[in-house]
Amino acid sequence: MKTLGKFLFLLSFSACCFSNSLTYLKNNTPYNSHELETIKAYLFANIATQEHVFSKAVEGQVIKSLPGAVLASPSYQDTTFFQDYQFHWVRDAAITMDEVTTLYDLASQKEKKQLHTYLENYINFESLIQKQHGEESLGEPKYNIDGSVWQGPWGRPQYDGPALRAITLIHIANSLLKQNEEDYVHSTILPLIITDLDFVMNKWQEKAFDLWEELNDTDHFFTKMVQRKAFVLAANFFNQMNDPAHAQNYQAVAAKLSHSLEQHWNANRGYVTETIHQQFYKGGGLNAAIILGALYGNLEDPNDPFAINSNRVMNSIYYIRHGFKHLYRVNIDNHYNPPLLGRYPSDVYDGMNDTYGNPWFLTTHQLAEYYYTLTNYYLNKKAITITADNFLFFHQVNHQFFSKPEVISFDRNPARFYQAISELIQQGDDLLHASKKYTACYNTYSCTHMSEQIDRKQGEQVSAKDLTWSYATLLTAMQTRLKDL
Ligand code: NOJ
Ligand code: NOJ
Repeated sequence: MKTLGKFLFLLSFSACCFSNSLTYLKNNTPYNSHELETIKAYLFANIATQEHVFSKAVEGQVIKSLPGAVLASPSYQDTTFFQDYQFHWVRDAAITMDEVTTLYDLASQKEKKQLHTYLENYINFESLIQKQHGEESLGEPKYNIDGSVWQGPWGRPQYDGPALRAITLIHIANSLLKQNEEDYVHSTILPLIITDLDFVMNKWQEKAFDLWEELNDTDHFFTKMVQRKAFVLAANFFNQMNDPAHAQNYQAVAAKLSHSLEQHWNANRGYVTETIHQQFYKGGGLNAAIILGALYGNLEDPNDPFAINSNRVMNSIYYIRHGFKHLYRVNIDNHYNPPLLGRYPSDVYDGMNDTYGNPWFLTTHQLAEYYYTLTNYYLNKKAITITADNFLFFHQVNHQFFSKPEVISFDRNPARFYQAISELIQQGDDLLHASKKYTACYNTYSCTHMSEQIDRKQGEQVSAKDLTWSYATLLTAMQTRLKDL
């Protein structure tokens, strides 16, 4: 009896103080709610609606945006930036609209009405571009903001776009089903999903450009991870829709993709490689795209070999961080901080003369989101298992705290478990604080702007301005942080 009483006391004590200490972290966030509202406003500023119309002058003609066009950035060729980002990229748009759908899920009924227009506009825009020029349309990486085909030279085709779009469309469909919009989902969204997935089913083994639009080859990790996720989600979704025939087909492709993904694990190097036939060229080897693949392709199955808690992905994080740590002046100057990430170490893309590559906001935000996602997994599991096979990962986080393989369990040692959780959250927070330091003010009232890249020497913003994807990744990371608390 006495022991039981003591046990119960200890249990309630640890439960109270465990959650209290996390409450402290929950309230002390890298971005406060006011700042997050500003970031949302910047993201929406890049999405065309019926009222918010963009005009673009191209070779003496004016192109006006259609509602639903998502500009990658408002930047358009000038003396400091040679690129034109005023396009609707299928990849960037799907990722952005997935975040908008999450905002819709979290919104009050009143706000939902306004956000509903964004979802509908996106669906109409995608429906138009899917039909533009037959099957080839689906491998097009980007479109004009009026939905017409852009015919300039580019790295095409790209096969991650239709998969990411299917993921977002399934998310939208599930959200709208909760609002009793069965008819709309069936008549309008379902056919778009089927079109994308049928296409990917036929093409996934063929050559295409990677997400950074540079390597034309088969077997890109990021692309396969998001393709597999699309098929897994679709299999569940079509079962739920009483369409087992489609569901079965999708399940079968997902299994093939899982098999094919195995080749990306490079045991000799100890990390996952992005493009298996180009491991010594550009981003073919070590690449922040591995983190994006693990997150955008996350099946939320802890036993998946590429799960966020897998030794493969955890070791890859170790090597990716290592690869960027001494690469940029801004990281060397802040060596006590986890490093800002670029795309891959030998990158030279800067939007101008390809002088040198730089850290990017979006890859850095994804690394932060990675730590937050992993923390949520451990909080659920109530134990952190450190073994010889993932030790490097923990050692990199804090070599004093994580000094040996062990199991840190909530039941046995809540204080230590809590401390370990804080260490992981702190990695994410340090990354977001670091990238926040490099946000820009356009004037006194307009701060926390984010471009695509941060100059590796001085930290000023370079490349495309107000990159939509930079904002989307910041919002998603912040939503993931201590999400279930
Ligand atoms: C090469 C860059 O690395 C890529 O990301 C970019 O989209 C294209 N050039 C086009 O500018
Ligand atoms: C270049 C990036 O490499 C690519 O992934 C992105 O889609 C475009 N910029 C547009 O943001």
